[in-house]
Amino acid sequence: MRGPQDETTVSGGPNLRGPQDETTVSGGPSSRGPQDETTLSTGPDDTALYDRIGRSYSSTRRADPRLEAQVWRALGDARTVLNVGAGTGAYEPCDREVLAVEPSAAMRAQRPPGAAPVIDAQAEALPFDDGAFDAAMAVLTVHHWSDPAAGLRELRRVARRVVVLGYDALGGPRTWLTRDYLPGAIVTARPTVREAVGALGGARVEVVPIPHDCTDGFLHAYWRRPGAYLDELVRANISVFALMADDEVAAFVAALEADLRGGAWERRNGALRARPELDCGYRLLVAER
Ligand SMILES: C[S@@+](CC[C@H](N)C(=O)[O-])C[C@H]1O[C@@H](n2cnc3c(N)ncnc32)[C@H](O)[C@@H]1O
Repeated sequence: MRGPQDETTVSGGPNLRGPQDETTVSGGPSSRGPQDETTLSTGPDDTALYDRIGRSYSSTRRADPRLEAQVWRALGDARTVLNVGAGTGAYEPCDREVLAVEPSAAMRAQRPPGAAPVIDAQAEALPFDDGAFDAAMAVLTVHHWSDPAAGLRELRRVARRVVVLGYDALGGPRTWLTRDYLPGAIVTARPTVREAVGALGGARVEVVPIPHDCTDGFLHAYWRRPGAYLDELVRANISVFALMADDEVAAFVAALEADLRGGAWERRNGALRARPELDCGYRLLVAER
């Protein structure tokens, strides 16, 4: 199971518990977290999903500089940063001491040379002491955790500042994509921002507008480039599509293709073409002690 990059030496990670912790830690609430009673529905862990779908991740998923600037600002003066659900290393600041946590071997394998050291662990049971980091960040990952509340409590436990970038499927605005083509996607995406703020014990919430030419190909990145969703590679790196049955994806592609060809998409959404950015429901949560 463990790939070569698992041998990463964690040099200089603050207060790491020791080498024996560099193993996969299966999900489940941590007994070390504060006694917060927040519970969110738990589900299957998506590590295996990313081992399956994550292999071409870097081809369409690159940190967008405008989102990155917002995340880095939120990290404030933190010198040591834990990046949980770090994937290929997108959004990791290069001017601070970063340690990454990523359970999927396929994702760890795509971390570029020179990226921050990475360990194989899960958000729900972080192998670090209380307050070990100035800040912990989690970007577009919390909805994949088997127990988001437990993972968020862990972030709170190990860092004095927590920065989470997530998608508010239920509380955020509807877009043409979820309203007209993927209504099911918003039902399953958890936690909502409200739930996540509760699990963090309070947080400041910032809107993260999505630029029309966003370089990170997540679910709503192509809100002004609808033809992009017809591209199999684009869909392969968006977990919502990867989790859909083949016939559902085929129906989505057929419907969107027909609307683009026949002009229905343009009639309904053409006004968006004048917008440089759009609130698609992405939010930055910043919690501090
Ligand atoms: C959409 S990717 C985001 C990766 C990276 N943060 C980025 O912005 O590109 C979601 C990541 O969450 C990871 N993940 C899934 N379950 C996890 C868990 N329980 N704890 C930590 N990470 C997890 C996946 O392996 C995957 O790499």
